[in-house]
Amino acid sequence: MEFLFNLLLVLHFVGLASLLGGFIVQMSSPSKGVNAAMLHGALTQLVTGVLMVGIVESDQLTDEGPLNMTKISVKLGIVLIICVLAFNGRKRQPPQVALWGIIGALTLVNVVVAVFWQ
Ligand code: HEM
Repeated sequence: MEFLFNLLLVLHFVGLASLLGGFIVQMSSPSKGVNAAMLHGALTQLVTGVLMVGIVESDQLTDEGPLNMTKISVKLGIVLIICVLAFNGRKRQPPQVALWGIIGALTLVNVVVAVFWQ
């Protein structure tokens, strides 16, 4: 189970790289919008995060302490908003500067929440 958890954590970072990378790569583009990397990254964060919570909660891991469920709930809420925004963004043509900016900002908020909130 520990291997599976670590594998999911690696994929969690891959999802973060895709979401944030898809945002950053458009920084100097005049037609900013929601690209596929951002949507797929957000979905990866959602799926891997929920699966990791499932593993920890099923008590299969000894070295992962109890999760901070308030923190997890905040991250879950933010990623659900990101997914809805990204889905809607993919249906329309760029430029969508505001949508692009909000998704990038919410992603950074989730990184700060994940790292600073213990
Ligand atoms: C954009 C969305 C998200 C970002 C940027 C993000 C970011 C991170 C980061 C940087 C870590 C590693 C640092 C750490 O261990 O504290 C992490 C770990 C983790 N994340 Fe996420 N996360 C997101 C969404 C989610 C969601 C939706 C869930 C669950 C519903 C989740 C559950 C977890 C769990 C269980 C861990 C490992 C255990 C822990 O340390 O909390 N994450 N996340």
